[in-house]
Amino acid sequence: MRPDVKHVLSVTQFDRQFLLQLFHRADEFAALPPREIAPVARGAIMATLFYEPSTRTRLSFEAAMTRLGGSVISAEYAASTSSAAKGESIEDTARVVAGYADLLVIRHPAAGSVARAAAVTDVPVINAGDGANEHPTQALIDLYTVWRECGRIDGLTVALVGDLRFGRAARSLARLLTQTVGTKIYLVAPPVTRMDPLLVEELRSAGLEVEEADDLVAIAPEVDVLYQTRIQRERFSDPDEYAAACGRYVVDQRLMRALPRHAIVLHPLPRVGEIDPEVDTDPRAAYFRQARNGVPLRMALIEWVLTPHPVTVLSTNGHRHA
Ligand code: NCD
Repeated sequence: MRPDVKHVLSVTQFDRQFLLQLFHRADEFAALPPREIAPVARGAIMATLFYEPSTRTRLSFEAAMTRLGGSVISAEYAASTSSAAKGESIEDTARVVAGYADLLVIRHPAAGSVARAAAVTDVPVINAGDGANEHPTQALIDLYTVWRECGRIDGLTVALVGDLRFGRAARSLARLLTQTVGTKIYLVAPPVTRMDPLLVEELRSAGLEVEEADDLVAIAPEVDVLYQTRIQRERFSDPDEYAAACGRYVVDQRLMRALPRHAIVLHPLPRVGEIDPEVDTDPRAAYFRQARNGVPLRMALIEWVLTPHPVTVLSTNGHRHA
């Protein structure tokens, strides 16, 4: 992988200082009227290659690139409409598309596949979700939303609820929370979708207080951020297992009564029944504001990715320039 190319593959690459800078920059973008935004991506092309369904991630990446003055080319149903349908490897597709674009945004069902694509390209690659592994840009949006809504990222109790086994957004957010201080995480999941014990151990070793809980209503009064997730039906081979996990934890009026008045409810969306729509009008329901935050956060990220590292180059007359 070329050291001078900025890929976004995992949340583990970000430190606290970077995160706070990114959030401030996203806030600046969010506050600006579109016509006042400097076209920092003018002349640049983003290619979005999506081998799995998406609404928010692809469209908000494309909106963010367009707002920055750049252009977008897109393979929306890449699994069926690109050469992947003919058996082409992700590496070959990425190599070729890197010749057409200045930035690739890839979603793929196989864990590790986006990193494999990044290893063979000389343009930045952003992971928009690789199987059940990671969804780093969603986690950035989630923590940015916490920062905006709660005014801080430290000293909070966060309940991660639902599919903590296959849910890449929850896995990435849990890892990103290791950059915060004094955070307590409750893991609340049906038995078949509990978080991988290796990841739980990773979080604890990084200094997070992590506790598994069964009774969401009982812990709700302690919770500042309730992060609800969808049971990832597409990743189950056994429909009975999926059915057993579904409907176990639902955010409804009863749960909202147990949550503190200052708490917020987040969800990466789409929801399919795990948040009752009657909760939507509660001011603590922050999930649609969270989705909206995707555009300014991704603008800040694209700006960072497209800004070259200060690399040392050798000029034609033999002198080094910084
Ligand atoms: C998530 C995903 O695709 O991982 N959605 C998203 O990007 N906002 C969560 C999900 O599909 O449940």
